[in-house]
Amino acid sequence: MPYTAINLGCRPWNLSLTSVIILALSNMLLTFLLLQSETCVPEIIPRKMVEVSAVTEWNLGNLVKQQQEQLPECITQDYQPMSPDANSLRLDIKLGRWDARRIFRTFDSVLVGSKFTELSQTYRVCLATQSSVEKLHSLVQVALHWTGPMSVALYAAGDEEFEVLQRYLVYLRRCYESIRERVIFSLAVPRMRPPKKQPRVFELPDIIDCAKPEATLNELASHISSEQTNWRIRNVYPQNHMRNLARKNCQTDYVFLTDVDIVPSFNLSVALDEFLRSDNCDKCAYVIPTYELDTRMRFPQNKTELIRLARKGLARPFHQKVFIHNQFATNFTRWLQDVSPTHKYHENVKTGKVYVSHDVTNFEFLYEPFYVAKDIAPSHDERFMGYGYTRNTQVYEMYVTGYQFKVLSPVFTGHWGLQTRKSRPAWRERQNSANRKQFETFKKEVFARYMRDPLKMMKNAN
Ligand SMILES: *[C@@H]1O[C@H](CO)[C@@H](O)[C@H](O)[C@H]1NC(C)=O
Ligand SMILES: *[C@@H]1O[C@H](CO)[C@@H](O)[C@H](O)[C@H]1NC(C)=O
Ligand SMILES: *[C@@H]1O[C@H](CO)[C@@H](O)[C@H](O)[C@H]1NC(C)=O
Repeated sequence: MPYTAINLGCRPWNLSLTSVIILALSNMLLTFLLLQSETCVPEIIPRKMVEVSAVTEWNLGNLVKQQQEQLPECITQDYQPMSPDANSLRLDIKLGRWDARRIFRTFDSVLVGSKFTELSQTYRVCLATQSSVEKLHSLVQVALHWTGPMSVALYAAGDEEFEVLQRYLVYLRRCYESIRERVIFSLAVPRMRPPKKQPRVFELPDIIDCAKPEATLNELASHISSEQTNWRIRNVYPQNHMRNLARKNCQTDYVFLTDVDIVPSFNLSVALDEFLRSDNCDKCAYVIPTYELDTRMRFPQNKTELIRLARKGLARPFHQKVFIHNQFATNFTRWLQDVSPTHKYHENVKTGKVYVSHDVTNFEFLYEPFYVAKDIAPSHDERFMGYGYTRNTQVYEMYVTGYQFKVLSPVFTGHWGLQTRKSRPAWRERQNSANRKQFETFKKEVFARYMRDPLKMMKNAN
């Protein structure tokens, strides 16, 4: 090395200077090697890991065990680089940004995954989703399947929920590398019941079970008072505020907005990214079909397996029995055609390469597919809160403003549980009819904004 040969030699301090330099260099080298070795956990989920039929915890037990068997040193070493307060939320609870009607405050980037910014530069699409505390366990499987950047908007009302949320985030980030690395979190709080205590560093008990995300959450949430739970039932969850918050914290051009219990198919992020590389359509929405899945099965590896399940009655289009308009326009009859070996694009079903299967030709009001689009699409109108008219009104506005909906194959998403029509709780019906009234105003505004009425919605307007 050239440094050792510095001019040297005669005076003693020169010798010590040289050794300091050598030490510093070798230190840097070792640190570098150490950092490199952190990437030894594979990004692609090995098939074996999801060879599972469990219901809600879908055998995370196996997953965690396998990781430990294969890579013991990675798992332990991997915890070290986290600084002690890496898990505490970055926000001042007395600040925040108000919505248009001053009923919620939001906080951006309260917790940022260690690779979120890097992933946002390499991927073209970010998955945006939102959740209240009690549903957050669903994020685990989503994050295992989606290898790109993710933006998750969280909701917390009052100090009890806020504390459970913080503890559970520590658990999620401790147990799941996918969440620790890829997710950026944002937060929304209601004006009526804001958390008052500033975020803190929470310690977890020594023994935590990384294989039980749902049970762990339920245990934490069991300490929430019934007064608080009842307050939540009486007050709406601001779905559209949350969607906008999640969307706008994504840093990529394209956003895939889902609900937290919608699970992407394997390799969806990589395959989509490749598809979008050649996309230059500003007003295209790429629809990714959603199936509901029997909870006794494992998540299907690919479209072929999904269709096999569907033929056995173990999977079917999302909401088919509950509310068929939800995805009817996607046209599953068309979408199924490429499974036949004689189909022109059957090869894509085998390789997993994404292509446009067909265009949506019979758009109808109340259609609400999950889609990928450039995030210049209309925002979600925040007057719609709680159940009903939240997502489909945004899709409706896209349609009025001239978006084309194109259905992709062979990718899909899954939702656990075959849904049957149940009687709805009274609060849900109340929220729905409140939103129906809002819709009367909304549709007139949309008409005034674009001067188009392709679905003849203004015919009966008063
Ligand atoms: C689809 O998944 C099934 C079940 O795991 C597997 O046997 C098959 O080889 C997969 N097909 C393709 C084309 O990858
Ligand atoms: C994921 O998709 C990409 C792009 O279509 C493909 O090249 C790759 O082989 C796929 N990986 C897996 C594990 O299926
Ligand atoms: C679905 O596609 C078939 C075949 O192309 C077509 O005949 C039918 O009208 C379509 N249905 C809907 C709801 O788009």
